[in-house]
Amino acid sequence: MTIPENIRNKVKEIRKQIDFHNYRYYVLNQPLISDYEYDMLLKELISIEKQYPETISPDSPTQRIGEQLTGGFKEVEHKIPMLSLDNTYSKEEVVEFDKRMQRELGRQAEYVVELKIDGLAVSLIYKDGVLVQGSTRGDGAVGDDITHNIRTIKSIPLRVLTDDREIMDIEVRGEIYMPIDTFRNLNKEREEKGEPLFANPRNAAAGTVKHLDPKVAYYRNLDIFIHTVLSEKYQAHYDALIASNKIGFKVNPNMKLCKNIDEVFDYCESWKSRRNKLPYGMDGMVIKVNYFEDQEKLGTTEKNPRWSIAYKFPAQQVTTKVEDIVLQIGRTGIVTPVAILTPVKVSGSTVSRATLHNFDELARKDVRVGDTVFIEKGGEVIPEVVKVVLEKRTGKEKKVEIPKKCPVCGSRLVRQEREVAIRCDNTRCPSQVKARIEHF
Ligand code: IVH
Repeated sequence: MTIPENIRNKVKEIRKQIDFHNYRYYVLNQPLISDYEYDMLLKELISIEKQYPETISPDSPTQRIGEQLTGGFKEVEHKIPMLSLDNTYSKEEVVEFDKRMQRELGRQAEYVVELKIDGLAVSLIYKDGVLVQGSTRGDGAVGDDITHNIRTIKSIPLRVLTDDREIMDIEVRGEIYMPIDTFRNLNKEREEKGEPLFANPRNAAAGTVKHLDPKVAYYRNLDIFIHTVLSEKYQAHYDALIASNKIGFKVNPNMKLCKNIDEVFDYCESWKSRRNKLPYGMDGMVIKVNYFEDQEKLGTTEKNPRWSIAYKFPAQQVTTKVEDIVLQIGRTGIVTPVAILTPVKVSGSTVSRATLHNFDELARKDVRVGDTVFIEKGGEVIPEVVKVVLEKRTGKEKKVEIPKKCPVCGSRLVRQEREVAIRCDNTRCPSQVKARIEHF
């Protein structure tokens, strides 16, 4: 059946509108219409596509969830290798880096300073304006084709918002991450179901993009910041990022052009105390020489570009004492061991409890009552016991055995096959009832 001209135009027009409002909402965080109006547009498109299935194309906003992969991931060769960054925790080494840049360029370099997002690197390739491939970094030369999952991320345009031919065939690279709230909720759900927990948002994001079924990624709310634009059109990295944002890509607004290394340090310092306030994890700053001509002159080593360095923030760890290990019973009866700590300040808040997740974790870390432990609270994670300071053991520490009976109601605790969690199987256990009421 041929599609009537007016229908074809209508479809094109609605898709354009949806793509634009999607961009306003997910990329710029500045919606221009209500959710209701957006849903109405989408509904109208779905209904026309139903009537004229021939109008459906892969770049339609209705096509974010595609088919499940069956044979595993295809490998993808990166035409331009995906390098990693040389990194340091030391200010002196950053000063050295700047001196090297000055020496090699024969003048002061101009820098762009960005946040180092704690996620995983991906490459997105657009042909004729349409997203055709998304892949992981892999070993830098060859990665996995994860297009099916990339398409579910709503801040990634399925079609760029431009008809400038020069940038309709473009590759951008960025960092996929899971927002901290999403990570917490996901782990909470997994804990309740007795499924293994993700150690941090980065692992959760990596696990999600490696699913064969795109529905999983669709409902897990991944996001992205683009940090690299491979295009001949621009002279400078900063301009390329700004331009990419105008054509639909999400770029982190926290970046700064710096004329010298003092400006670089001022900006980096200003983020040390603010990092915990971000809704996503970051572990330092990335300093990049701005002009592409300068970048080319400086070149790369086998692994890293010579024109960039990551200035990492130290992990926020402190030591404290485990005063007790108590059992917490959730609304579904799952028993979680929790360490009660001598209160201690870490990254801006006082911590007096830390989850030990489950008894497998407890055994693996071998945390005992009386132990001195390292605890960590990155901006990204709930306080966690990282490890025991074994040197501080006196021999008087007490091991906690896996309980056989519920400490509250005395019912037996069960462990289902293939579950890490231990549950109290008495649904009338007062602790469970209380947790259910709290949840309600
Ligand atoms: S630029 C040559 N910018 O950190 C690599 N990377 O170890 C150019 N990352 O693989 C990468 N935030 O996954 C760049 N603002 C940022 C970044 C960033 C996080 C990741 C990226 C890269 C790794 C470097």
